[in-house]
Amino acid sequence: MATHKLLLLPGDGIGPEVMGEVEKIVRWFDTQGIASFAIERDLVGGAAYDDHGEAISNAAMDRAQAADAVLFGAVGGPKWADVPYRARPEAGLLRLRKDLGLFANIRPAICYPALADASSLKRELVEGLDIVIVRELTGGVYFGEPKEIVTLEDGSQRAVDTQLYTTGEIDRIARVAFDLARKRRNKVSSAEKNNVMKSGVLWKQVVTGVHKADYADVELEHVLADNCAMQLVRRPKQYDVIVTDNLFGDILSDVAAMLTGSLGMLPSASLGAEDPATGARKALYEPVHGSAPDIAGQGLANPIAMIGSFAMALRYSFGLIEAADMLERAVTNALASGLRTRDIAATGANAVGTAEMGDAVLKELQAAVR
Ligand code: NAD
Ligand code: IPM
Ligand code: MN
Repeated sequence: MATHKLLLLPGDGIGPEVMGEVEKIVRWFDTQGIASFAIERDLVGGAAYDDHGEAISNAAMDRAQAADAVLFGAVGGPKWADVPYRARPEAGLLRLRKDLGLFANIRPAICYPALADASSLKRELVEGLDIVIVRELTGGVYFGEPKEIVTLEDGSQRAVDTQLYTTGEIDRIARVAFDLARKRRNKVSSAEKNNVMKSGVLWKQVVTGVHKADYADVELEHVLADNCAMQLVRRPKQYDVIVTDNLFGDILSDVAAMLTGSLGMLPSASLGAEDPATGARKALYEPVHGSAPDIAGQGLANPIAMIGSFAMALRYSFGLIEAADMLERAVTNALASGLRTRDIAATGANAVGTAEMGDAVLKELQAAVR
């Protein structure tokens, strides 16, 4: 049996709490003989800054480059509000994405049957929801240069961020979205703002070209990103795959989170290009949520986004499709059994903590092999 090299970067706030639950599951797969993992750990974010003054060390970057997959918890928090900008916790995550070339961020939003009443939207709008946001992750305004604050002659300041996209960057993310749609309900909605932004004009043009050349069998629609945000809360089930840029994807995926009940439910996979020779690709798996400073340290965080991210690792990086299905089924069953962390519970009174939720998923896994 192949041993998979897994690097764990728990990070800050609830990151280590939710990672702890995934570690139990990783160990379970190992002891069951279903899969074999060689686990390494390192620091990222504020934890790394506190240790050595940077949001991620070169040694941790080397480990990430050498791993078959990276599992990432969350970074950031008020403790690091005043650290130098280049060393802020989020810079660690951005460096990982950029240096590993993780241009494709797959963010599925599924409303589990048991949670149709946990959403802030009406049950009938979200019941059965299964959409995916494909977010471009290494370009756009996150990385465009110049990115600076300049002091002008009169002493006032000017801040600049640059939204920048090349044909190649749009082309490759469009292909990820079309390929994914073919395995699903065969529809892609491309969200940009070509009415205001040149990058939106190019985005629409390139997506249209890729569609015409290689994916004419997939239904394609173009939607302005602001309208897309509105449509997501109006009638979310009209979507299958939404492809969009880095910043719009960040915002639209937080909107989509509430369709499922909580930000604590959304997993994601950040993928690099496939090596044409081996088919391998760099990959980092990260919940969509952050370090949740408001609940950190209290054992209240929902671990399902993190557990779902590991299920995506099993599927995308290790080809362990049955194990991924098994884990996703275990999550479905744990929710069906009625257990809820506070973010998805009807009232705080009947809520369980992070560890109880993780244990419930483990129990369902055990039941599946019995
Ligand atoms: P957040 O995602 O941390 O929290 C937003 C809200 O959702 C909070 O009320 C929080 O309690 C809740 N929440 C989030 N995850 C949850 C979970 N698993 N279970 C239950 N409730 C959950 O966003 P924020 O408050 O805007 O940001 C806090 C910090 O996290 C900032 O420093 C931000 O930069 C950082 N952040 C990091 C990542 C990441 O590491 N991938 C993502 C987003 C934000
Ligand atoms: C996310 C987060 C990150 C982003 C931050 C922490 C850099 O919000 O993954 O959604 O903006 O991409
Ligand atoms: Mn975000």
